Amino acid sequence: MKSATPHPVRHPIFARAFPAMSRALEAGGIAEHRKYYPATVSRVLAVEPAPRLRAAAIAAAREIPVPIEVTNGVASALPAEDASYDAAVVSLVLCSVPDQDAALAEIRRVLRPGGLLCFLEHVRADSAGLARMQRALEDQAG
Ligand SMILES: C[S@@+](CC[C@H](N)C(=O)[O-])C[C@H]1O[C@@H](n2cnc3c(N)ncnc32)[C@H](O)[C@@H]1O
Repeated sequence: MKSATPHPVRHPIFARAFPAMSRALEAGGIAEHRKYYPATVSRVLAVEPAPRLRAAAIAAAREIPVPIEVTNGVASALPAEDASYDAAVVSLVLCSVPDQDAALAEIRRVLRPGGLLCFLEHVRADSAGLARMQRALEDQAG
């Protein structure tokens, strides 16, 4: 099991802007794709490295019936034993991590053989204005 967060992730501008962006995404139809956890789920470990977004995740987790532990960490060093999870949910995170291969290898490590990976992701926007905004957010995050 990997425990320490190797690199703190802060992204302060993104962390302040994202809750409003997220509400806009939900209103735009993404909510339908975010119905992640059926009633049969007994436990979720949520990993969020940015302090402000982690606090928001903790507050959101209190509002839903599935038991969720929100913890600090990064996708490339998950605080979980090998083959200890039935499923992994990765929502708009692979666009944010510095090393997608490392994140996916780590997810594979913690999933049991035959475990499920559900991911929600986006590509570069078609519109020039949105694409510029995506690049600006990437620069801010890097
Ligand atoms: C676009 S937001 C998506 C947030 C949320 N998962 C959702 O679907 O609304 C990207 C998220 O990835 C997180 N993140 C950034 N770098 C990360 C890393 N190395 N490992 C795990 N999460 C990371 C950010 O802090 C942020 O919460």
